[in-house]
Amino acid sequence: MRVCIIGASGKLGQYMIEHCLERGYEVVGVCRPKSVGKLDRFRGRITVVPGPTNDPRVIRQAVAGADGVLTVLVPWGVNDYSSGTAQAVLDHAAPNARLVFSCGWHISRDGQDVYSKTFTRGLAIVGWLARTLRLVDIDDQVEACRRIFASEARWTVVRGSDLEEGESQGLPVWSRHVGDPILESNLTRRVDFALFMVEALTDPDLIHEAPAIVGCRSPSALAHQGEQSA
Ligand SMILES: NC(=O)c1ccc[n+]([C@@H]2O[C@H](COP(=O)([O-])OP(=O)(O)OC[C@H]3O[C@@H](n4cnc5c(N)ncnc54)[C@H](OP(=O)(O)O)[C@@H]3O)[C@@H](O)[C@H]2O)c1
Repeated sequence: MRVCIIGASGKLGQYMIEHCLERGYEVVGVCRPKSVGKLDRFRGRITVVPGPTNDPRVIRQAVAGADGVLTVLVPWGVNDYSSGTAQAVLDHAAPNARLVFSCGWHISRDGQDVYSKTFTRGLAIVGWLARTLRLVDIDDQVEACRRIFASEARWTVVRGSDLEEGESQGLPVWSRHVGDPILESNLTRRVDFALFMVEALTDPDLIHEAPAIVGCRSPSALAHQGEQSA
């Protein structure tokens, strides 16, 4: 299996590299030229393609021959970085490749997600502030996902809860809608978010799904497992 990781030098990207190498996958990573050094510990074990992830030429080169593409979608700046990245992957990955994208719970595929007032207010404030400072444009991540959802490619959009560092606890559990009780704890280890992304490559049940994930050892996940086995 040849896997291309777009946004490989970030925290999520590096965990995904580790999971892929553990599985014996061949890895090609794309990251900004200034971040190539962050991947030094993988030297000789992965191929690095330096460049902006929204550059179609960079992405075309990186995804050539890839069976799977793992894309970290982050809406940096106010120049459509996220939607440009998603579009480049959709345009240049092989039609039968498995495409797995990361984002947060705030993305809704069908409008059926139920958010707490705290979550909605926090998102509105952070979104406004980040856009005003021209740091991040959350609406562009929404646009990126709209294009992915409309695509006929074999995609999965993994929606992460709040994240924390720490040892792996195992594969996160998921639900189709934020607001479902199993997700209430709203916390996942970043290493396990990466695990879910990599496992999604080989899980046909996740094609055309937008799973919202939560740690499998989180209280809400454990409570759900308890109900299932009762
Ligand atoms: N953080 C959270 O609490 C949280 C919660 C839910 C979901 N998520 C999702 O998880 C994924 C990873 O998020 P993360 O917070 O853990 O970040 P991360 O893995 O550290 O990744 C950040 C990525 O953005 C790149 N980046 C940073 N600054 C940039 C800039 N100015 N221009 C272009 N690229 C830039 C980084 O590349 P360099 O290495 O080149 O800097 C890296 O590839 C995202 O899809 C996010 O939506 C995050």
